[in-house]
Amino acid sequence: MKRLVILLAITAALPAHADRLPLPADTPASYRAECGSCHLAYPPALLAAGDWRRIMAGLDDHFGSDAAVDDQKRQEITAFLERRAGNAEKLGSAGEPPRISQTARFVRKHREVPAGLWRDPRVRSPANCEACHRGAADGNYSEHDIALRELKR
Ligand code: HEC
Ligand code: HEC
Repeated sequence: MKRLVILLAITAALPAHADRLPLPADTPASYRAECGSCHLAYPPALLAAGDWRRIMAGLDDHFGSDAAVDDQKRQEITAFLERRAGNAEKLGSAGEPPRISQTARFVRKHREVPAGLWRDPRVRSPANCEACHRGAADGNYSEHDIALRELKR
């Protein structure tokens, strides 16, 4: 009985499972609309607050695109991303400009992806999460192996 209690305490202390990253319930509609039109509305936990701030401060020249939004939306989205950001130490440096796909955590989680697959025309870029994670729009990153097997053909 004592052991069971300890086990439950440990389980409760662990973060949510890493293959389930749905957008949080407090995600503003502006985030889905403005940051989900060109690519996936990325899970905020995959970048640190400081990196999100840098992204949000440079939207007029965003990876070669103009992703600028009005002041009110910028403030709303920035506050949300800061609130829901991941742990900087656990994620590791995201580079400049910051990329989820350059964090140490991302690299570690993806070390089994064959190098050539990132450049496959069906994938094009590590930022194109849905090419491999079919359920990414619903925050589901657990079906990766199925897409990967298809992509390897
Ligand atoms: C006009 C199109 C457009 C809009 C709108 C847009 N982005 Fe992007 N975003 C891009 C492009 C292009 C890239 C680079 C993709 C690549 O490298 O394949 C990118 C990349 C990113 C990356 C890095 C992905 C990686 O490699 O890890 C983040 C983070 C990001 N965007 C966040 C945002 C946020 C937050 C918003 C909303 C404020 C937003 N984007 C709106 C076009 C856009
Ligand atoms: C080329 C295919 C590919 C792309 C593109 C890709 N991933 Fe992955 N991802 C994988 C594979 C394969 C794994 C599992 C690796 C393993 O288990 O060793 C994985 C694992 C993950 C995990 C860990 C899941 C767990 O169980 O802990 C997360 C989170 C994740 N990816 C998020 C993303 C995000 C966010 C993007 C886009 C910014 C992305 N991935 C782009 C193939 C991809």
